[in-house]
Amino acid sequence: MKTILEQLEQRRAGARLGGGEKRIASQHGKGKLTARERIDVLLDEGSFEETDMFVEHRSTQFGMEAQRIPGDGVVTGRGTIGGRLVYVFSKDFTVFGGSLSGAHAAKIVKIQTMALTNGAPIIGLFDAGGARIQEGVEALAGYADIFLQNTLASGVIPQISVIMGPCAGGDVYSPAITDFIFMVKDTSYMYVTGPDVVKTVTNEVVTHEDLGGARVHSQKSGVADGAFENDLEALSEVRRLIGFLPLSNREKPPVRDSYDDPERDEASLDTLVPANPNQPYDIKELILKTVDEAEFFEIGPDFAKNIVTGFGRLDGQTVGVVANQPQVLAGVLDIDSSRKAARFVRFCDAFDIPLVTFVDVPGFMPGTRQEYGGLIKHGAKLLFAYAEATVPKLTVITRKA
Ligand code: HXC
Repeated sequence: MKTILEQLEQRRAGARLGGGEKRIASQHGKGKLTARERIDVLLDEGSFEETDMFVEHRSTQFGMEAQRIPGDGVVTGRGTIGGRLVYVFSKDFTVFGGSLSGAHAAKIVKIQTMALTNGAPIIGLFDAGGARIQEGVEALAGYADIFLQNTLASGVIPQISVIMGPCAGGDVYSPAITDFIFMVKDTSYMYVTGPDVVKTVTNEVVTHEDLGGARVHSQKSGVADGAFENDLEALSEVRRLIGFLPLSNREKPPVRDSYDDPERDEASLDTLVPANPNQPYDIKELILKTVDEAEFFEIGPDFAKNIVTGFGRLDGQTVGVVANQPQVLAGVLDIDSSRKAARFVRFCDAFDIPLVTFVDVPGFMPGTRQEYGGLIKHGAKLLFAYAEATVPKLTVITRKA
């Protein structure tokens, strides 16, 4: 006869298996880690405390009462990154394709609420097929609850989304409200409606990858702030990003010991900027030579490359860097670069991160394409963001302004 503890451990072992060994093998076969393996990589070893491990869906329709799997397609809990508290939810594609039921949504909302109450970042790992079809409106109501929490937490705690498989339908909008979206190349895609619906409605034939792959969103649409080679790289980069950020807007960004002398002279910067204003140079070289130990976490490196945004440190203190890139379109400001930089500046302002701006700009991009696209309104977003920001702002004009 098993003791209660043994029975509990047996239940836990069952829950850890999610949708079963066959589906886990299929997940690995696609080059993806499972929901739990991802959490293990993301968090400090042994720090994960799971919540709601045995929650099951409540549906009694379409034969669902016979299919209940503990956890219901999402693993939730808290842990640490570099010893600092974070909250996490990780969609489990092996359980009903990670789809969102009422119970699944309630698990996410609970973790969102805890993160907001306790003032710590929340990281969502997405790999799912959207609303659980069998649940209909109950699932849709769950989305509304999640979006509300995302909105309430905006500017209060950092919210990070990592897309590591399908992210379709209602699942795309929670990441879209968060601060940063990262994707994994080749295995992730993100769209409101998939290729089949697109074909039916517009007669357009398009693949998952061409509709919403990591390259599309990190280079063309700007929906994603970065694309990584695989799950491991994506998760370790999120760990690195967290190292720059405060846990919430109620505390200062972390200060790290720096081995870089703040008085350091960088002689090569004397010759980096060509005297001829038409000759380009790489502003990223200047950034890397300025920040501590040449460590820079770039946000949106492949989108609107005419402006560079990202986090670095000066004397151990996090700063947000915004810089025109003379190497791309002569560093001109256009719709995309204004949107990209405005969003970044507003994030820094919300989280008390000082701004360092390197300016070398010929002005705003002329032409009908830009004017028809709303350059006036999008350009104003950048002006508004700087004017509104109350963090320290330091501007270096490297050549022309
Ligand atoms: C229930 C789902 C599901 C869903 C997948 N599954 N999506 N179950 N609800 N939304 C199940 C499948 O039935 C299957 O179960 C398992 O998950 C794996 O799915 P596959 O299709 O075999 O995987 P794959 O070939 O990799 O395709 C992944 C996929 C596809 C592209 C995501 O599953 C798909 O198109 N799913 C439906 C997407 C969708 O229409 N979602 C709802 C959007 S509406 P078995 O038992 O066979 O393993 C929405 C509301 C928006 O989200 C509201 C906004 C406010």
